[in-house]
Amino acid sequence: MSKKLYIETLGCAMNVRDSEHIVAELQNKEGYRLIDDATQADLILINTCSVREKPVSKLFSEIGVFNKKKKAGAKIGICGCTASHLGEEIFKRAPEVNFVLGARNVSKISQAIKSEKYVSVDIDYDESSFAFGDFRNSKYKAFVNISIGCDKKCTYCIVPNTRGEEISIPAELIVKEAKKAAQNGAKEIFLLGQNVNNYGRRFSDKNHKKMDFSDLLNMISQIDEVKRIRFTSPHPLHMDDKFLDIFASNPKICKSMHMPLQSGSTRVLEMMKRGYSKEWFLNRALKLRQMVPDASISTDIIVGFPGESDEDFEDTLDVIKKVNFEQIFSFKYSPRPLTKAAEFVNQVNSKVASKRLQRLQDLQQDILDEISKKHLNRVYEVYFEEKRDNDMLAGRSDNNALVQIEGKDEWLGSIKKVKITNPKRLSLYGEVLS
Ligand code: SAH
Ligand code: SF4
Ligand code: F3S
Repeated sequence: MSKKLYIETLGCAMNVRDSEHIVAELQNKEGYRLIDDATQADLILINTCSVREKPVSKLFSEIGVFNKKKKAGAKIGICGCTASHLGEEIFKRAPEVNFVLGARNVSKISQAIKSEKYVSVDIDYDESSFAFGDFRNSKYKAFVNISIGCDKKCTYCIVPNTRGEEISIPAELIVKEAKKAAQNGAKEIFLLGQNVNNYGRRFSDKNHKKMDFSDLLNMISQIDEVKRIRFTSPHPLHMDDKFLDIFASNPKICKSMHMPLQSGSTRVLEMMKRGYSKEWFLNRALKLRQMVPDASISTDIIVGFPGESDEDFEDTLDVIKKVNFEQIFSFKYSPRPLTKAAEFVNQVNSKVASKRLQRLQDLQQDILDEISKKHLNRVYEVYFEEKRDNDMLAGRSDNNALVQIEGKDEWLGSIKKVKITNPKRLSLYGEVLS
């Protein structure tokens, strides 16, 4: 009888892809089968995120809960970014944990499950040319890593300390993986990296052909079976004209762009070490709006970064009003170990930060109300990927709006023209035209 695996994934899309790799390794090499009931599992894995304090503190209470409800003899393993940054300390805080496997050590999962108190959290470990087995959560959409790590060292961010230096994955491996996934039915390829448009910065193989992200996008769009390409996260600093041109002109590239602003104040951006100014960001975002009027733009914003004044915060609101983002992921600044900003002396009072966050989110709700009205009677190409519990078929428009319809199951995996009849803030409802 096969052994059973339960895995919980926190954090970003990169973690989601790492979890798929872990499942692939354990299925193909170790005879595990994925289940969704932790109490029946022989192995419970938590793939952790470290980007803010909250998920880290939640982790330890969660380990306690799993330990109580797990089968006798079942093992618990901690993977991902918190594993990278806490390492052996996890055993001290949670002795019930059997192994700790860092975000850049996924290929060592077989070793980890076979030894007691195994720890591997090396952030210099190079997995850039490692080919993992096949396992994907979705038949219709395939995550494909294009780089690992991050060289930016933004002063608030722990990721460079959990995922190490940036290495681009060889283009031929990426193309091979995208092609295979597309031939297996994934019409949409979702390229992943902390800094995707810095692709080509460093390859392990010094003889790798010199190329950049735009070149890679061109290569992937030449695969016949690939119908849609998405990517996350691009960095505003590297949004040069070549990149905006290919984004605008290549019909396979979905017209939604994530532009992580973080702050609208040039002064704060300097303290964050983001490398761009308010003006540069506005120039790029407004150029994008002009080149592709239907594109949606999403962003990430940190409120209450050390030293952020009321005036700085007004600059952030100003950028939001000028760009009219279709989606904002906003967070209160959370001091992280191993980062420069955690040592800055001018930390913002938590209540002030909460108030600012509320103001920002209120403003965004008003913007979203306006945006959702504009969708009425528009026709979008929607790729249906999922049947929801409410029996509706759900998919994404080219510009990333969530669209739901009453439809036939055989439409899953196909792209249909949909007329929007009932636009709501979080989802658009419509009818299929063809
Ligand atoms: N590489 C991506 C970001 C990855 S982290 C980029 O540069 O955009 C995802 C988001 O978490 C960031 O965009 C940022 O908004 C947020 N974040 C990172 N560190 C944070 C911190 N210390 N406190 C609050 N939010 C943080
Ligand atoms: Fe973190 Fe900055 Fe790298 Fe993004 S670019 S992962 S925010 S250090
Ligand atoms: Fe979290 Fe690591 Fe991603 S810290 S956001 S899981 S890169």
